[in-house]
Amino acid sequence: MIKVMIVFGTRPEAIKMCPLVKEMARSETIKPVVCATGQHREMLQQVLEIFQVKPDYNLTVMKHGQDLYDITTAVMLGMRDILNQERPKAVLVHGDTTTASASAMAAFYQQIPVGHVEAGLRTFNMFSPFPEEYNRQNIGLIARWHFAPTETAKDNLLREGKRESAIYVTGNTGIDALRTTVRDDFSHPLLDWAAGSRLLLITAHRRENLGEPMHHMFRAIRRIVEEFPDVKAVYPVHLNPIVRQAADEAFGSCDRIRLIDPLDAVTFHNVMARSYLIMTDSGGIQEEAPAFGKPVLVMRDTTERPEGVREGTLRLVGTDENTIWAACKELLTEPEAYKKMSQAANPYGDGRASERIRKVLEEALG
Ligand code: UD1
Ligand code: UDP
Repeated sequence: MIKVMIVFGTRPEAIKMCPLVKEMARSETIKPVVCATGQHREMLQQVLEIFQVKPDYNLTVMKHGQDLYDITTAVMLGMRDILNQERPKAVLVHGDTTTASASAMAAFYQQIPVGHVEAGLRTFNMFSPFPEEYNRQNIGLIARWHFAPTETAKDNLLREGKRESAIYVTGNTGIDALRTTVRDDFSHPLLDWAAGSRLLLITAHRRENLGEPMHHMFRAIRRIVEEFPDVKAVYPVHLNPIVRQAADEAFGSCDRIRLIDPLDAVTFHNVMARSYLIMTDSGGIQEEAPAFGKPVLVMRDTTERPEGVREGTLRLVGTDENTIWAACKELLTEPEAYKKMSQAANPYGDGRASERIRKVLEEALG
């Protein structure tokens, strides 16, 4: 069997790589070797439990207060030793995290070919999102196989001069994950609490939004909840202590806003499917929400997911308090505006991306 190493370390990478791990495990020629870097700890563990994936290695790199140097060096050194030991024929990394970028470099230093899952997303602004735009361009330089989720992503890669024969449009493996998490008969105490109200689902964690932009976002949301008695909000707060402190300060005393710990992916996806609208600075949520026809106000200045904006489900609202407040108010008061944004569309794939990636690798390596 040909060894292919699949590397991930944060929550979103795990959600999008676990379907690929399962798919590879079905291969008759490829043996997946799973390496978790442990850039996240509890938030990674949640995903591994939901998908029942047991990594062969865990570098356990997470330290509270870790900065980009800590993550990069710990991942590079950890990966050096594991790659030396396993000598895989290829290494697969996902997206744009520091885990992905450092692992791609570690593989490159041993001249092991890299496959980039979720390749070709670009804002072309190195500081937005930061450091993710750099990470994805860096991996793009190294990758032998670019698994692009959409034609737009493929075009970005072609414009950068990547060889067309190295690019495969597969869809996004995040949509594969939705096929196993979303259930019609899902119930949860949170949904009981929200029954009869319009539920806003909130997440925020981006590094470039820490500080003033996040305060703006939270003030806008608080104003909305105070103005609309039939609105409740639930915010599963990222475990970053800076985010948690800002959320506690902004929402601590408001009983129609629930601050809760991160939800496992099954619960999160099903709550998403039943929410009224989503306010987020997340990347992955921008891909999932169009599948449910849930309007998303993207609280960022740029997005690398223009497909959802074109479909009408995503609206980029930046991080100014008044702009976010006005956009949200419009969706709560103008049924036509809401209807326009809530058309279910799925520009990110048909849920079979992992299968396509497996086939490409079987042919290339087998
Ligand atoms: C990372 C990724 C970002 C991705 C996000 C997904 C980088 C540079 N950033 O950002 O692209 O969008 O993950 O969530 O790769 N923490 C815990 N437990 C956990 C996870 C995090 O306590 O399970 C806390 C730790 O104190 C940690 C902090 O959160 O220091 C920040 O984690 P880190 O991975 O550095 O950055 P994220 O903002 O999560
Ligand atoms: N998610 C989750 N629980 C939560 C919040 C988000 O399972 O409490 C999922 C979400 O459905 C998506 C992914 O985590 O699949 C997005 O992760 P995150 O926003 O942390 O990172 P990003 O996508 O911005 O890199």
